[in-house]
Amino acid sequence: MAIADEPTEAPDSTAVRVALWRAMHVQVDPPPHVLEDEIGLRLADPDDDWHHRPDMDPNATSGFRAAIVARARFIEELVAEQAADGVVQYVVLGAGLDTFAQRRPEIASRIAVFEVDQPGPQSWKRQRLIELGYGIPDWLRLVPVDFEASESWWDQLAAAGFDPDRPAVVVSTGVTMYLTKEATAATLRQLAGLAPGSTLAMTFLLPPQLLDDADSTGLRASEKGARASGTPFISFYTPREMLTMAGEAGFEAPRHVPGTVLAERYFADRTDGLRPSSGEDLLVATIPTLQPDAAPTDRAEQSSGA
Ligand SMILES: C[S@@+](CC[C@H](N)C(=O)[O-])C[C@H]1O[C@@H](n2cnc3c(N)ncnc32)[C@H](O)[C@@H]1O
Repeated sequence: MAIADEPTEAPDSTAVRVALWRAMHVQVDPPPHVLEDEIGLRLADPDDDWHHRPDMDPNATSGFRAAIVARARFIEELVAEQAADGVVQYVVLGAGLDTFAQRRPEIASRIAVFEVDQPGPQSWKRQRLIELGYGIPDWLRLVPVDFEASESWWDQLAAAGFDPDRPAVVVSTGVTMYLTKEATAATLRQLAGLAPGSTLAMTFLLPPQLLDDADSTGLRASEKGARASGTPFISFYTPREMLTMAGEAGFEAPRHVPGTVLAERYFADRTDGLRPSSGEDLLVATIPTLQPDAAPTDRAEQSSGA
């Protein structure tokens, strides 16, 4: 029998997995931690034996765990930097059990945070946030959207208070592999219309044949697991393909940030051997701010003539 306030929707299993990896990092890896996030674990509230899930094997899946905290740290630094530069809107596409709003309220409360995700799992998260006492503050907007449906998520974002005329930082981590390429291309076209000064960061999975033997075996195993749990990886991209898609969508100078750059940045000094697996890279693109009317050469000429 359902209890009145019991969650009726299930959390997304892919979002739970990455949240558990973030918590495991704190629990099984020695400090310093690349990211400290155990709130996702509290939200997910798994069975006591969750550590014994095959995908939580501390050794066999350490590369995935490390890659997940690396991308989360990269995004967190990007958002902190953008907020310090005056950007006041943060959009998380496919937010899952993202806990930036709960862990970093000193930043989040100064900006509007829009979490976009599938309606069912999002309503489950809403209820868990309330149950755990975090609540849904004014500056946190939960926007229920299915990117594969014909509805316009952009309109829903605007209805939730997003101002398309103000710069935003928009991120999507661990989502594109679950979407058709058409849905991601449509999302990129929409995002290319963001206000000047906006930044997009989006992760994508590389085709396994581009990886070395160890990482390709790992990726194929996780592909199999994803399929078995009903959330198959359906889209892989070469970096060139992703850059071309972003360019065709309207981004002027999209950049490819390899996962290996994150590995070097956050793991190079570790002595415990923890290293991210490769297989997921990032697209980073900005919308240039409008230039003043006078071209730099004109100004140089004017000043040299003064
Ligand atoms: C692996 S989780 C990543 C969660 C979060 N971005 C992170 O890095 O922790 C993938 C997320 O994409 C969302 N997602 C998958 N397909 C979607 C769709 N068609 N529309 C909206 N969200 C979707 C899932 O609900 C889930 O929250």
